[in-house]
Amino acid sequence: MPNVLYDVKDLALAKQGKLRIEWAKTSMPVLQLLQKRFEKEKPLKGLTLAACLHVTDSTANLMIALKAGGAKVSLCASNPLSTQDDVAASLVKDFDIPTYAIKGEDTKTYYKHMNAVLDTHPNITMDDGADLVSLLHKERKGQLKELIGSSEETTTGVIRLKAMQKDGALKIPVLAVNDSDTKHLFDNRYGTGQSTLDGIIRATNILLAGKIIVISGYGWCGHGLAMRASGMGAKVVVVEVDPVRALEAVMDGFQVMKIQDAAKIGDLFVTVTGNKHVISFKNMQRMKDGAMISNSGHFNVELELDALEKAAKSRRVVRNFVEEFTLKNGKKLFVLGEGRLINLVAAEGHPAEVMDMSFANQALAAEFFAKNKGKLNVQVYRIPEDMDKEIARLKLKAVGAGLDVLTKEQKNYLSSWQEGT
Ligand code: ADE
Repeated sequence: MPNVLYDVKDLALAKQGKLRIEWAKTSMPVLQLLQKRFEKEKPLKGLTLAACLHVTDSTANLMIALKAGGAKVSLCASNPLSTQDDVAASLVKDFDIPTYAIKGEDTKTYYKHMNAVLDTHPNITMDDGADLVSLLHKERKGQLKELIGSSEETTTGVIRLKAMQKDGALKIPVLAVNDSDTKHLFDNRYGTGQSTLDGIIRATNILLAGKIIVISGYGWCGHGLAMRASGMGAKVVVVEVDPVRALEAVMDGFQVMKIQDAAKIGDLFVTVTGNKHVISFKNMQRMKDGAMISNSGHFNVELELDALEKAAKSRRVVRNFVEEFTLKNGKKLFVLGEGRLINLVAAEGHPAEVMDMSFANQALAAEFFAKNKGKLNVQVYRIPEDMDKEIARLKLKAVGAGLDVLTKEQKNYLSSWQEGT
């Protein structure tokens, strides 16, 4: 019998989950270094930490490192469909980490699981999408005074938290892990770029070469996705609302157009914006028969699915994570992964190599909170730049790349202004 409270699908899956956690660990050298230091120094001793993250093999390694640092940790899922059930089982059975996550859980269970981790009365919370912070501020206000701070993993969560700060609603310090260079330049770009296509391919087995892929959003996720889709031979169309980003997409060699025009020509649609109804039902009606629609942004609200569901004459699941909707005029549209982040629903999320840096930021964020207890303002902070650079240095070392250094003469040149032509 496990020593901790939990709600997972099946503890019998633990053996397979443990192998997966170990496999991911071999690709997470920076987190391993931090774990070793945490084991010695115990920077999180006496603290309770509740995390609401995608329950994957990479996340398991983060939780193990935080526990090694002395924290009492618990974990719930940050999306109802992203949990790896075998990993969740192993966290409970092999690592004594209270875990509340079942792939496919309904909304009620999702919230029950979030409340279970908040019942541990955390001093630090860790979010991917700001759901724990949101629940604390809406329904569990009495606990806010117990918190040193919360760290946030994703763009969508940071947008929510900055909106809370602007409204004066935010009551705790926040570290925006997503804003670290070693997070968004790698996780969002290379992680989302690869894992989104991985999810789409595993779900559909389509050939990307020659397809018209419409990508809504040209932030770092959109950059990565466009780059990788074009590398696979797809014709990429970008939809963007920011003029500078749109121009960048043009000069990166992609077609850029309004969604109502792109809707008519796309074979496959992917949203990565962090916004709502990016593909409205009206634009779905403009699509070609057989078009595929997916989302790799944090929430499924990027697609106006409720309107599609209401309007459809019939619907049926034709493959795992592929649902066919037939409209009244007979047109068929395919929605992938219920419109939830396709990279985690139909594949395994970003590779551990890239999560290594994201989760090194999370581990250092927890340590930063422990060191700065009571000294932080109620605001959304970035991780200090020296920590960000140190993660990059460690990763470079791990991949065997050399980092050059400035000479004394060059340093002087950069800090002087007299020398000219
Ligand atoms: N977000 C995207 N990919 C992930 C992964 N593999 N683990 C945890 N969170 C993720």
